[in-house]
Amino acid sequence: MAPIAMAELNWLGSYPGTRMRRTRRWPWVREMLRETHFSASNLIWPLFVIEGQNQRQPIASMPGVERLSIDLATEAVQKAVDLGISSIALFPVTPPSLKSDDGVHALSPDNLICKATRAIVDKVGSSIGIVCDVALDPYTTHGHDGLLKNGYVVNDETVEILCQQSLNQAAAGATVIAPSDMMDGRIGAIRRALDGAGYQDVIVMSYAAKYASSFYGPFRDAVGSAPSLGGGDKKTYQMDPANSDEAMREVALDLSEGADIVMVKPGMPYLDIIRRIHDAFHVPVAAYQVSGEYAMLKCASLHGAIQEKDCVLESLLAFRRAGASSVLSYYALQAAQWLK
Ligand code: PBG
Repeated sequence: MAPIAMAELNWLGSYPGTRMRRTRRWPWVREMLRETHFSASNLIWPLFVIEGQNQRQPIASMPGVERLSIDLATEAVQKAVDLGISSIALFPVTPPSLKSDDGVHALSPDNLICKATRAIVDKVGSSIGIVCDVALDPYTTHGHDGLLKNGYVVNDETVEILCQQSLNQAAAGATVIAPSDMMDGRIGAIRRALDGAGYQDVIVMSYAAKYASSFYGPFRDAVGSAPSLGGGDKKTYQMDPANSDEAMREVALDLSEGADIVMVKPGMPYLDIIRRIHDAFHVPVAAYQVSGEYAMLKCASLHGAIQEKDCVLESLLAFRRAGASSVLSYYALQAAQWLK
């Protein structure tokens, strides 16, 4: 057979020999060649829990998201189970009277997050993951994630109390412990504490690359930590949004200390970080589409600027394309309904 002539190769290698649109012509071929998929099982749904019975409160900066009392939250979790959502993440709205300088209410077996966890386990057993956030900000009068000494969040003393907080939540039935505080060394310390108490199967999902982001504003309204923080920021412990290599070091450390899943937060502005971590470590990466991202999508939709369903599902798929295994999103329930 005669060798292929250079001219012929060139013809095959570009238009009109190569037509990229051929494989976009029909739905069946687009579906056959789709590289990533998003389903309800990739979703983790964050829920805000309040005291009381039959209580639901809207959150002004997050239209469509409500704080729920435990009874209603438990019903909502049942819906999430029915829709195939894999986990829920609990965030307690602590009554101001129970907040203190040292956030010691975090250690009470009868605090909101523990009560909610027990109620959810009672209702749905282990059919859904229950992620409990570890950090002191729901419980401190100053709104910081750790203990404050002379205006500085101290690391090692905070880690000790975070270990106790983790044990308290594991005892209530948390299946995933998610430290969101960004103290150094807390993953190893928490892993050891859990193992020592017989909780070796409790998963640690570390907020490994958590940035000092301005996209958390609506969340701080939702849990009531904004007034406590009083315009302050968390820049002495959360990461500088300008950094990417530093995220790799954070992840490497958390993995070496025993993290099972590492998280990147916020989500959409940080897809490059997800991609780097996925490519370098080949471990499960979770992404958090945070409150400010939810607010942007929701408010643009409410103003008719974007098609809500299409844009939200596209944003969730983008996390998978970037390399995330799972996505925390306030849209989780709605998205799971859309995907059905
Ligand atoms: C605090 C915590 C925050 C979020 C989750 N856990 C806020 C913060 O660091 O101040 C943010 C979530 C969101 O914005 O949706 N430990």
